[in-house]
Amino acid sequence: STPLKVAVLGCGSVGSQVVRLLGEQADDLAARIGAPVELVGVAVRRLDAPREIEVPEGLLTTDAHALVTRPDVDLVIEVVGGIEPARSLILAALENGASVVTANKALLAEDGPTLYEAAEKAGRDLYYEAAVAGAIPILRPLRESLAGDRVTRVLGIVNGTTNFILDKMDSSGAGFAEALEEAQELGYAEADPTADVEGFDAAAKAAILASLAFHTRVTASDVHREGIADVTAADVASARDMDAVVKLLAICELRTTAAGEDAVAVRVHPAMIPRSHPLASVREAYNAVFVESEAAGQLMFYGPGAGGSPTASAVLGDLVTVARNRLAGTRGAGESAYADRAVLPMGET
Ligand code: HSE
Repeated sequence: STPLKVAVLGCGSVGSQVVRLLGEQADDLAARIGAPVELVGVAVRRLDAPREIEVPEGLLTTDAHALVTRPDVDLVIEVVGGIEPARSLILAALENGASVVTANKALLAEDGPTLYEAAEKAGRDLYYEAAVAGAIPILRPLRESLAGDRVTRVLGIVNGTTNFILDKMDSSGAGFAEALEEAQELGYAEADPTADVEGFDAAAKAAILASLAFHTRVTASDVHREGIADVTAADVASARDMDAVVKLLAICELRTTAAGEDAVAVRVHPAMIPRSHPLASVREAYNAVFVESEAAGQLMFYGPGAGGSPTASAVLGDLVTVARNRLAGTRGAGESAYADRAVLPMGET
């Protein structure tokens, strides 16, 4: 059958693993989708930059816009990150009739509705499982598997760098600065660790989790945010004395207002949790999302929340879904903002 033509934007740690898997798993992917997948281009900033993999001859280009607007492209995978040019490229791809898979949490959290509306208008899919907690399948379960239930709370450890730092402080008694340095040496934290340490990365993910868990729209600016830079060795030690551990939690709650309406409250801050709680067992740079719902009760999703290969696993899963939809001439569940729920400021009920 006709091959499905795929363009990849970005060839960093995630993009290069996506390209690798597209090559190595080509036969399995074709069997699962029902058509072969053909990589038609990989857009990069610099042709001569060092890369983890060798991209097949002739596929690299610096003209991302030309690549996403090629008339034959069926699917665009965006793994560049950041707001621009990612947003313009995704919008151009959708307008051109391509479906989109992205891992871009910052963009979805800041301006998701613009993307969802563009996908809706184009009648195309927009999937983004890799945007939250890397390899852990959590967005589909919230949007689809649990859609018949009423999710009341989501607690997430969704930033690996800060979990590594807090875990190090807990296990070795190290201070924040020392643990951060180790996270940087091991390549977890960026040279500028602000997005992780100050909770911006977790807040973006919290906004996406809350949107899907409660089928409404939450953006990063709705999220009350506090990072871990002020957590001291003494804080961690006193938590230990109470048989508790300090974690940076993304907390998404469904509340009932005084008027009896459902409303949503979302926050990110360091929190003490008892060592007996399943989230306390999440060590090093792992992620986990703990979900409470009326019918199912408690569920926990656990795994690697970052890294090229785990994140590429989630991207490829989306690719299979979107490709199947495309061949069937249908669209997926989309962003599923069925309810329009108020987002409460911190502390209000
Ligand atoms: N900086 C992020 C983390 C990467 O540490 O979890 C994954 O989004």
